[in-house]
Amino acid sequence: MTNKIKIDPERTLGQIDRNIFGGFAEHLGRCIYGGLYEPDSPHADQNGLRTDVIQALKRLQMPVIRYPGGNFVSGYRWQDGVGPREERPARIDLAWHTIDTNHFGTNEFIQFCRALGTEPYIVVNCGDGDMREARDWVEYCNGTQSTALANLRRQHGFEEPHQVKYWGIGNEVDGPWQIGYKRPEEYARAFTEFAKVMKWVDPEIKILASASSSWKDTVERAQLLLEQAGELIDYMAIHWYVNNRDNDFAKFMTLSEFIEDRLSAYEGLIRALRYEGKLQRPIPIAVDEWNVWYRAYNDQQLEEHYNLEDALVIGMHFNAFIRHAHSVKMANIAQIVNVIAPIFTRPDGLFLQTIFYPFELYSQTCGDTALDVLWDSDTFSGGDYQAMRLLDVSATLDSRTNQLTVYVVNRSQDQALETDISLTEGQFGKGVQAMTVNGPDIKAHNSFETPDNVGTRTESFQAKGSSFTYTFEPHSVTALVFSAS
Ligand code: AHR
Repeated sequence: MTNKIKIDPERTLGQIDRNIFGGFAEHLGRCIYGGLYEPDSPHADQNGLRTDVIQALKRLQMPVIRYPGGNFVSGYRWQDGVGPREERPARIDLAWHTIDTNHFGTNEFIQFCRALGTEPYIVVNCGDGDMREARDWVEYCNGTQSTALANLRRQHGFEEPHQVKYWGIGNEVDGPWQIGYKRPEEYARAFTEFAKVMKWVDPEIKILASASSSWKDTVERAQLLLEQAGELIDYMAIHWYVNNRDNDFAKFMTLSEFIEDRLSAYEGLIRALRYEGKLQRPIPIAVDEWNVWYRAYNDQQLEEHYNLEDALVIGMHFNAFIRHAHSVKMANIAQIVNVIAPIFTRPDGLFLQTIFYPFELYSQTCGDTALDVLWDSDTFSGGDYQAMRLLDVSATLDSRTNQLTVYVVNRSQDQALETDISLTEGQFGKGVQAMTVNGPDIKAHNSFETPDNVGTRTESFQAKGSSFTYTFEPHSVTALVFSAS
């Protein structure tokens, strides 16, 4: 088998929305308290925000961050988290069975977003909360007139509206673990009424509907929601987490099929409803929680320690999001600090987990247009799948600079794969930059003691003519960046 990747810059798949590089921060474990916000840390700024965390997050160039949950939001009262800190009530959090001081709330989150340079995406409580609380939250954040809630925000020190554009209604309402679980019809009805009044308060906002957390009857549930509430839905939000519970590397590497199946199923559903005239416009997909998660649950406050094989799975996710760029318009890795996250802190410092590096690689090099790249390679079998290509590939074009980037995950544990990279038209102009995320073995991980076991290496070389050969290292994620003339 000749391993090959052929690039035709004219075969495009769609515009890439940078919001696929989104994040998620929940009041859970040490994500907010001890992660983003830690007034006693030597790294805290005047608002108690961790400057070292913000610096690390800046490298990920996240355009949007979802907040405040997650399961947490289904029992959250936003009013508890605004105003003078000493007057804020501590509340029991029934989602994670802990107590929240409410020292961090809406305005602190906005301050964090502004310091990072990211858009806030707020989820309203559709668990035990009502539509009044939801519309009031929109008014508090975005109100421009002299109304009680806009004035309350001003009184709290925020004269200008926060202009929060993205709003979600409810979290994983299809799961029995959720405070205020809802049957499909109940959620479709609640969503409609919440969305209606929220948009009446601010017609500029974009609303995400909680379609499925992959619990059960996921497609049927989403169908009912789209049929009954489609007109008000700006994004259909779905969640998933993947794992390597069987400790079976080959099976873990076949997860690209799981991701393809999920995205294709929802794309197919939307097309079918459009075809039947039940949807007036295509609704984009937001995968607003995704990640590897299986080792650390409540007892460990979800503090997963990631290894290299997990980083490969992050690469496969971005390849899929790029290949489905025409439909996936937002994705939020869950989460951003400490809790199933790329960044891990203690009061005096942090280290970057393995999954940080592929995220950074894609986010920093991704173009604005997805390309329909042709590739083939040696194969492997794992789980229920046979003859899967060892290379998992996507490619993008930056239409402003003509820069091309090819992303390749080599899923072989021990084979370096020599590969022909060719252009169907044109010539490789200048040099090629190869950035590779790798480490000594698939179980390699980073820690405070060994922060650089897994990281990114960069090399440059010349490529002339219409093809060159590149050898992808075993268990690696590589971005080849070049321009064509
Ligand atoms: O991200 C951790 C949890 O996973 C979220 O709170 C919930 O939405 C999901 O089940």
